Amino acid sequence: MPFDHNHHYHPALLRLVPPGPGRALDVGCGDGRFARRLAAAGMTVEGIDTSAEMVARAIAAGPGSISYRQADVTTEALEPRSYSFVSCLASLHHVPFNTVTRLRDALAPGGVLAVLGCARPSRPGDYARELVAAPANVVARLVVAAADRLNGGADLLAKAPVRMEFPALNDVRRDAARLLPGSAVRPLVFWRYLLVYRHPPAG
Ligand SMILES: C[S@@+](CC[C@H](N)C(=O)[O-])C[C@H]1O[C@@H](n2cnc3c(N)ncnc32)[C@H](O)[C@@H]1O
Repeated sequence: MPFDHNHHYHPALLRLVPPGPGRALDVGCGDGRFARRLAAAGMTVEGIDTSAEMVARAIAAGPGSISYRQADVTTEALEPRSYSFVSCLASLHHVPFNTVTRLRDALAPGGVLAVLGCARPSRPGDYARELVAAPANVVARLVVAAADRLNGGADLLAKAPVRMEFPALNDVRRDAARLLPGSAVRPLVFWRYLLVYRHPPAG
């Protein structure tokens, strides 16, 4: 498949899934690619997205064990304390940042919220990372395109709705510290950050 910045980080996100079977929610699931990986890892998965087209594509891709619904994360009733893993890939910037409190409250004790987010650089280190990202991106695209040719061609990616207005990374850092105490925000190379919040275990 063509090099995709969100898909590139799937393995890193999967490493954050708590051990054992559990319930997972993928917010802004798009065509369900990450939801399918969660299901393959043994989770009972739900995916929500406002786009009827994306939800239809996700359902069509299967497997039938994943439950998809067209829903807006800012208004959808999420069962409190029920998910061991909540993921949000390239979709948090579509909604107000404080939506993370709804996701936090849906976590079961010991659960993990993982946000792969998009943000604008704020600090000198963030700008330096951008300088590395551009050539690394060209190389990654060429390598993945060559591998796809060897394997007989790339899957066409379904185009999910995108929003190109991003918050400043410093605002993400500040708001995450305020709304998700103990969370960590780590800038990544390909114009993404990884926000991880672990809900305290029971007892
Ligand atoms: C850039 S796409 C990312 C799709 C997928 N997570 C991925 O990594 O390929 C953003 C997705 O968020 C969805 N979205 C936007 N606003 C949303 C909302 N309020 N509630 C749920 N999903 C939303 C869009 O429909 C779109 O599918």
